[in-house]
Amino acid sequence: MTKAPEHFDVIVLGSGVAGLSVAVRLAGSRGGLSVCVVTKGALAESATAWAQGGVAAVLGGDEDSTDLHLADTLAAGAGLCDVDAVRVLVDEGPLCVQELIALGAEFDRESSGRLSLAREGGHSRARVVHAGGAATGHEVERALVEATKTSASAIYEHTFALDLLVHDNTCVGVSVLVDGEVKELRSTATVLATGGAGQVFAVTTNPKEATGDGLAMALRAHVAVADIEFMQFHPTALHHPAMPRPLLSEALRGHGAILRDATGSQFVDELAPRDVVSRAMAAKMAEEHSEHLWLDATGLEEFSRRFPTLASSLHAIGLDPAKDWIPIAPAAHHLAGGVITDLDGATSLSGLFAAGEVACSGVHGANRLASNSLLEGMVFGARVADAILHGETDAKPTGVMVALLDPDHAELRATTVDVAPSTRPSDLHGDGGLDVAALRSTLQRAMTAGAGVVRSEASLHQAMDVIGEIEVTLKAHGTLSAATVELCNLLTVARGLLVAAVARTESRGNHARQEFVEQDPTWRRRQLLIERGA
Ligand code: SIN
Repeated sequence: MTKAPEHFDVIVLGSGVAGLSVAVRLAGSRGGLSVCVVTKGALAESATAWAQGGVAAVLGGDEDSTDLHLADTLAAGAGLCDVDAVRVLVDEGPLCVQELIALGAEFDRESSGRLSLAREGGHSRARVVHAGGAATGHEVERALVEATKTSASAIYEHTFALDLLVHDNTCVGVSVLVDGEVKELRSTATVLATGGAGQVFAVTTNPKEATGDGLAMALRAHVAVADIEFMQFHPTALHHPAMPRPLLSEALRGHGAILRDATGSQFVDELAPRDVVSRAMAAKMAEEHSEHLWLDATGLEEFSRRFPTLASSLHAIGLDPAKDWIPIAPAAHHLAGGVITDLDGATSLSGLFAAGEVACSGVHGANRLASNSLLEGMVFGARVADAILHGETDAKPTGVMVALLDPDHAELRATTVDVAPSTRPSDLHGDGGLDVAALRSTLQRAMTAGAGVVRSEASLHQAMDVIGEIEVTLKAHGTLSAATVELCNLLTVARGLLVAAVARTESRGNHARQEFVEQDPTWRRRQLLIERGA
């Protein structure tokens, strides 16, 4: 049954740092806009709350500069960052952090009162602000949730977004599933801030909600996405049956923790960017035929005082980081690509904006620099809000959008890849009797085996075959529910990732191909994926 639509000026899908940054800024403006935040869980449940290390921003330290932060971000991005977008990120980041502090977020400080700054992989300076040692995301989310509760016009929790509503080539809202019923929420502007898609993989640091919902909705609405072959694998997830895998923050390596192989030898520069470290780990594990390596944090002073949340989760499983080496292995962590946007978060669909991990703003290129993701959410969330306040609806040829709106631009060449139509929620009227959890787990295992840290054409095709089989079963037996739509979304994102990964016959950033181990300069371009009409 379809209920009568409600209308808001702005609908924000997602309640992480990007979405709530949009909502708080809009609601706090003098525009008097009605803003509705829609989220499939509780308001405070988002991957943001899980973020550990911190927020990279040049806030202090005479030696640091935004030019250095820019250079580090470009180097980590392996030739695919959009320089204009990174310039925006590093220049506007410090003010966003100050605004968050003004909103009530409390970051760790030295005894002098100055913000305490950590160093992480790929950063040439210590510039990462953090809270509770490695509980930064929790504090950022807390501050934004409190501000949202007092300012948003409506907050719809436990409301599952199904598909974008498109009329006359314009996004006019979203259909949602609430209490088993489909409802339409109409809006003048719709913001995708639904986060990442780590749950496409069996071994991930992402919460179970990270199922690529916004990305899949965008693909189904024929909105252009890019760079989704670049799933980042975080080097130091705890090797433990728990899923999602508990993360051991990169801040530990920043403070001197060492990676060791089975013989106890160091084998990689711990402060290299994540793609470099994860690839070295994959090679070492293949050589040793081992499932994990070791993180040695025994030399860190005051581990428990500096990182209380990590210390208590390690103690809970019988590990004492002051004495024990910690078993670790890479796990899917962050998607560098997503829905392509201009510098104000506008997408290729009029009325639709995107910010945060669901977006491809171009700041990460082929590999994200540590602690640039909360930052991206804050900076581009604020820019989306400002664009909406200025009445903007359509993308301009800025940032990554140059690749779509100005294809002749020399430095931002892109290849457009057609993707076959995917299963959509409206296709789900099968005969029931589907074990959705088992299918989800089959999909995740196929992706970890076939599209992990190192991929080959054969492994990618094997994963594609499994996905094809799951799609057939889903279409035959699936009925409409949040669980089946999440499975649709995972399949859609997985298929796009595989298509892009097969086509990219080189190794660059987060994408490592067994047969093409070098970077190929002719591949210094993004792949724009656009789903064909059904
Ligand atoms: C970490 O603390 O290592 C994770 C933070 C990030 O993904 O940048």
